[in-house]
Amino acid sequence: MTAAPTAVPWWRHAVCYQIYVRSFADSDGDGIGDLAGITDRLPYLADLGVDAIWLTPFYRSPQADHGYDVADYRDVDPLFGSLEAFDAMLARAHELGLRVIVDIVPNHSSDEHEWFKAALAAGPGSPERERYVFRDGRGPDGAEPPNNWQSVFGGPAWTRADDGQWYLHLFDAGQPDFDWNNPDVGDEFESVLRFWLDRGVDGFRIDVAHGLAKAEGLPDTEYVMVAGRERLTPAALTEHAISERPYWDQPAVHDVYRRWRGVLESYDGDRMAIAEAWVGTAESMARYVRPDELQQAFNFHWLQAEWSAAQFRQVLVDTFAAVEPVDASPTWVLANHDVVRTVTRYGDGGVGVSRARAAAVAMLALPGSAYVYQGDELGLSQVDVAEADRQDPTWRRGGGVGRDGCRIPMPWDAAGPPFGFGPSGSTPWLPQPAAWGSLSVAAQENDPTSVLALYRSVLRTRRELLPVLGDRVTIVDRGDEDVFAFARAGATADDLALVCVVNCGVAAVPVGDLGAPVLTSEPGAVDGGALAPNTAGWFRAG
Ligand code: GLC
Ligand code: MG
Repeated sequence: MTAAPTAVPWWRHAVCYQIYVRSFADSDGDGIGDLAGITDRLPYLADLGVDAIWLTPFYRSPQADHGYDVADYRDVDPLFGSLEAFDAMLARAHELGLRVIVDIVPNHSSDEHEWFKAALAAGPGSPERERYVFRDGRGPDGAEPPNNWQSVFGGPAWTRADDGQWYLHLFDAGQPDFDWNNPDVGDEFESVLRFWLDRGVDGFRIDVAHGLAKAEGLPDTEYVMVAGRERLTPAALTEHAISERPYWDQPAVHDVYRRWRGVLESYDGDRMAIAEAWVGTAESMARYVRPDELQQAFNFHWLQAEWSAAQFRQVLVDTFAAVEPVDASPTWVLANHDVVRTVTRYGDGGVGVSRARAAAVAMLALPGSAYVYQGDELGLSQVDVAEADRQDPTWRRGGGVGRDGCRIPMPWDAAGPPFGFGPSGSTPWLPQPAAWGSLSVAAQENDPTSVLALYRSVLRTRRELLPVLGDRVTIVDRGDEDVFAFARAGATADDLALVCVVNCGVAAVPVGDLGAPVLTSEPGAVDGGALAPNTAGWFRAG
C-alpha cells in the first residue's frame, strides 16, 4: 500500500475539529452522543470549513473515564454504535472531504480489559501480570503502596488486588497502566494501530503520550501533586516540575513513537499521529516531532497563555524556535475536553467572548495545524455543574470540581433542552443550561455577527489564502507592548504577506497604515483607523 508521500501532507495546515463523542449528537435518545449522531451532523462540519475531525474514544469501555478506559481496542461500545456505524461514519466523512483521526489510549487499559482480568486471575509472578505494573507493597505486610505516586485524578496511584499486590494507575483505579517494557504491549498496540489504519482512518490522537515509560525502579517523587490540577496549571508545567516526575516524559517514550512512525509510513495517504504530551517546554514538545517520530504534538503552551500580548509573543517565538530545528510544523490549540472553556478562561461575560473570538482569529492566521474543540465555534462557556450531576472521575476521587463543565452536550436548536442534541423528550447525560438556546447552531446560523459566522468566514478565508501564504512568521513591533502582531510571509516574493494584529490592551490602537482589514474578530472592530481592545484583525501588507 505504500505510495509516494505528497509534497505537502494534508495534515500540515489542517484545521481539525475535536468531537467529544458523548456530547456531540445523540441519534437514539439514550442521552449519550453516538456515531450515528455524528454521521448525521457531518454536513455541518463540512460547511463550517474544517479539514478533519478527531473523535474521542468510542471503544468498548465501562466508561469509568468516559471511554479513556478501554476494554477492547478493536470494537465499538454499544453505547456509541457498532463497527458498521463507524464504517458508515468514516465513509460519509471521506465523501464530504473530511479526514478522520481516532483516539488511541496506550498508557492504560480498562480494568475490564481481557489482559487485566487475566493478570488478576493468574496471580503474582505470572507473565500475565507483567503486562501491567504490579508490585508488592511497602511496610509491614506490604500494606503501604509501593511508592508515593499520586493519581492525576487525586488519591494514590496504586490500588491493592485481593491477593495483596498493588497495581499502578496514573489515572482512575479502573485504568491500570501498561508496562511498556513488556514486548507484548508494543506488539499489541502495533496490531491495534493497523486494525484502524486498515479500516481507513487518517490518523491518531495519542492519549497521555508522555506517560508510557516510567523511570527504572519506580522511585518516589519529590513532587507534591495539587490533586487533579497538576496538568492544568502553567506552574505545574515548568520544566522543573515535569523533570521531578518519574512517570512523565521519560526518554524511552520516544522509542514507541519511532516504531509507530514506521507503521504509519507503511500505509498510503499521509497517515499521521498527534501526541497529547503535557510537557514543560517547547523543546520537550519538539522531541515528539523529530523527523523519525510523530507528525504533530499539541502545543499546550498556546492554550495556557493568558490574555496577554507578551505571553502570546513568547509562545510564538518559543514554538517556532523549537519546531524549526526538527523540521516539524507547529500546531495550535485553544481548548479541549480537559480544560476550562476558552471564553471563560479569558474573562467573565462579554469580554471573554470577544477575546475568544480574537484568539481564534489569531490562531487561524498562523501556519501549521489548528485544533478546534466542539462548541468553541459557538462561543460556549464553562458550565458550573451541580455536585449531584458531576460525573468526572476527578470529582469522585477528590481531585477537584472535574471537567464536566466543558463537556455539556451541544445545543443544535433553540427550542429548549435537549436543544436538538437528542430526540425531543430525551435527557442528555449532563444537563444543558436553559439559556443555551441563544447559543445554539440554529440561533447563530443566520446571524452574521455570531461566533459561528465568524468561524465560518475565518475558515473560508484561511482556505482561500493558503496557496499564497508561506510558512515563515515574524513578530511585528507596533510600538505598543499590549499589541500582539505578527506577519506571515507570502508564498513567493510577489505575494502579499498576511499581518495579524491582536489588541490585548485597554485602548484602541492605530492600524490605519495597514489598509482595510481582510477580516476582523467583531463587526466594527476597526473604526476610524483604530482597532478596538479585545479584538483582532487580518490585513494584507506588501
Ligand atoms: C487524557 C485525556 C483525558 C483522560 C486522560 C486519561 O489526558 O484527554 O480526558 O482523562 O488522558 O486517559
Ligand atoms: Mg445515543
